[in-house]
Amino acid sequence: MHATIGFLMFTVLLSAVPVQSPAAATQQPLPAELSAESRACIKCHKNDQVSLYQQWGSSKHYRANVGCYECHRADEKDADAFEHLGVFISTIVSPRDCSRCHSKEVGEFEHSHHAKGARILGSLDNTLAEVVEGNNRMVTDAFPQGVSSAAVNGCWQCHGSEVKVLPDGHLDPATWPNSGIGRINPDGSEGSCTACHQRHEFSAAQARHPNTCGKCHMGPDHPQKEIYEESKHGISFFANVEHMNLDSEKWIAGEDYFHAPTCATCHMSATKTQRVTHDIGMRISWNNRPAVSVRPEVSDAKMGLPGKDVGWEKRRDSMQEVCKSCHNEGWTKNFYVQYDALIELYNEKFAKPGLALYELTKPLKKPVEFSNPIDFTWYEIWHHEGRRARHGVSMMGPDYTHWHGTYEVAKHFYSEYVPELEALIEKGADSGDPKKVEAARNLQAKLEEVLNSSDHRWYLDKMDPAEAARRAKATEEFRKRYQK
Ligand code: HEC
Ligand code: HEC
Ligand code: HEC
Ligand code: HEC
Ligand code: HEC
Ligand code: HEC
Ligand code: HEC
Ligand code: HEC
Repeated sequence: MHATIGFLMFTVLLSAVPVQSPAAATQQPLPAELSAESRACIKCHKNDQVSLYQQWGSSKHYRANVGCYECHRADEKDADAFEHLGVFISTIVSPRDCSRCHSKEVGEFEHSHHAKGARILGSLDNTLAEVVEGNNRMVTDAFPQGVSSAAVNGCWQCHGSEVKVLPDGHLDPATWPNSGIGRINPDGSEGSCTACHQRHEFSAAQARHPNTCGKCHMGPDHPQKEIYEESKHGISFFANVEHMNLDSEKWIAGEDYFHAPTCATCHMSATKTQRVTHDIGMRISWNNRPAVSVRPEVSDAKMGLPGKDVGWEKRRDSMQEVCKSCHNEGWTKNFYVQYDALIELYNEKFAKPGLALYELTKPLKKPVEFSNPIDFTWYEIWHHEGRRARHGVSMMGPDYTHWHGTYEVAKHFYSEYVPELEALIEKGADSGDPKKVEAARNLQAKLEEVLNSSDHRWYLDKMDPAEAARRAKATEEFRKRYQK
């Protein structure tokens, strides 16, 4: 059975006509036929790894005579090179290797947040994986001190590991296999193209499908996949997937397909005036990951990315041009008015006061992060619920915006955060320690200021009388309508 498939593929291979590729796709002249080195690789690997061989055989690389050796070849001096039956190769094919032929894509990718995804050491989330959830009992050659298996199997599989090469040339099992988006490769390059392009097919069609992004962009703290599925866009995509023309060479919304946008459509793919970009930050005008949303050029500057010089207005124009492939100008602009208003609501009503209050709790708590219940409360308010609200609204998912978003934020702000702050104030005031008494007084003053502000005074039963009257009247009318 395997031999038959292999034989068939080999026949196709020998009869293949070399494909002239578009100049944009490659920087390097293509071989007229498959190299002798690659033919040698295939002799063994087509029998030993049939599926790998078949995937390559159905790829555009196969048709362009880009064989095993063209990708896996290595310099003897490369950190992860090993001698394999007379030639030097490496198992990892890093973005630097792909850049021999795809320098445009690699350049854009390198300048994106994706390539920097492994820089999570020192983050709050990382304390969780290494200390709170984990321990360091996973001992490997590269980690004699041990490492947390929660980080290895969780965080690193999405964000990327720093791949360690052992003295015998093998890759350390704590760090490999790994296709995390910001993987740090032995050649020093950052990222992995296989995070989205499944080897050995490397197909654009597969990468355009929303499931590709859904490996990572899902779950309680960034449910983009779920939001997309509940949105009109996701509904229309799944109802019309066979009309999406995903296999088309040129793939422009409004020309080659029109039923729905996918993640790639809005964040990466070409439009009538824009080329495909592998910098996924170039069309977003807010970074909704921090406790308080910031403009993308601000977070790019902190990461040392060239995006620091690309203002949010320009990025927003680029995204709006995508929308206008299917919608008119008024619809598109009005959507952004709705979106901005919710970001503003979350930032001003909950995030900024919440953060200011949290800072003031520090002298009143046990010193270690996550050893106090209030640490979890505040973390979930901004990192889970606050993000869900912001991510939900940015991609037209009303359930994530409201029930998984602003509702949860408000519930935990008033029913957990405020009572926990009050308990800390009381304990500090009664402590007899002058420093804590002072800290408790400061926290109390801030809490009173926040709760007496126009956003929160309803909680103290201090709502503006005119508004209270309006609301009472509406409630009365609603009751009349619904009472039998
Ligand atoms: C004579 C048969 C033979 C030839 C020729 C050959 N390989 Fe292999 N290759 C193997 C076998 C068998 C293994 C598994 C060895 C092992 O598990 O340690 C292997 C392992 C590998 C691995 C490592 C897989 C891993 O998990 O780390 C890569 C990559 C690879 N080969 C690529 C190539 C490339 C590229 C060529 C051509 C330049 C090639 N091979 C030529 C038989 C061959
Ligand atoms: C377009 C570039 C490209 C081509 C062509 C290519 N590979 Fe790979 N190969 C990769 C990438 C990328 C990986 C995954 C490693 C990584 O994430 O860097 C990989 C992984 C592998 C592995 C190890 C993982 C596994 O799944 O077992 C083997 C073995 C391998 N390739 C063999 C081959 C052989 C044999 C051929 C030719 C039939 C080939 N490759 C053609 C890019 C390529
Ligand atoms: C399922 C894949 C996945 C896992 C597992 C995961 N993350 Fe993430 N993480 C993401 C994605 C996707 C984003 C970006 C979300 C967005 O843009 O809205 C992200 C964002 C982050 C950020 C914010 C980066 C920034 O630019 O603000 C940090 C820090 C982070 N993750 C750390 C971790 C740590 C530490 C772990 C393990 C405890 C972890 N993540 C587990 C996928 C994952
Ligand atoms: C975040 C997912 C993602 C990652 C990571 C990614 N790509 Fe892509 N890539 C895509 C998508 C989606 C397309 C299809 C764009 C379109 O045509 O609509 C694509 C298309 C391509 C194309 C076809 C030409 C084009 O512009 O359409 C090439 C070549 C390519 N990618 C190379 C790479 C290389 C090299 C890397 C690693 C540096 C990489 N990609 C990493 C998602 C990704
Ligand atoms: C030796 C040159 C060469 C190398 C190395 C190479 N590619 Fe390609 N790649 C090509 C050529 C040529 C094409 C275009 C074929 C065509 O358009 O018919 C292509 C096409 C692609 C496509 C588009 C496929 C589609 O469905 O349209 C993707 C994605 C891709 N390459 C990704 C990669 C990634 C990722 C790597 C590194 C792991 C890589 N390539 C390494 C030459 C190369
Ligand atoms: C292997 C995991 C993974 C996959 C697959 C993935 N991403 Fe990401 N993405 C991340 C992580 C992690 C971050 C946050 C990086 C950071 O800022 O540290 C991120 C950030 C982003 C951002 C924010 C960029 C910015 O500049 O702030 C966008 C937009 C994005 N991804 C879109 C996509 C799209 C669209 C796809 C699919 C075509 C995709 N991602 C596939 C892990 C992934
Ligand atoms: C209809 C177009 C559209 C589709 C489809 C779409 N997005 Fe978005 N996405 C947006 C817009 C608009 C924003 C907010 C842009 C801004 O801030 O200006 C956004 C924001 C994001 C962000 C940034 C979140 C942050 O923390 O700052 C990520 C990540 C993201 N999208 C990933 C995805 C993924 C993954 C999918 C598919 C499952 C997807 N998007 C589908 C339009 C889209
Ligand atoms: C490929 C075409 C396409 C693109 C691109 C596109 N949309 Fe849509 N959009 C649709 C379709 C189809 C619907 C569903 C219409 C219906 O249900 O009647 C829709 C519906 C909507 C809705 C209504 C949501 C609801 O629940 O009623 C909004 C708002 C929206 N889109 C905004 C945007 C924005 C903003 C962008 C750009 C970031 C965008 N769209 C990009 C095709 C597109």
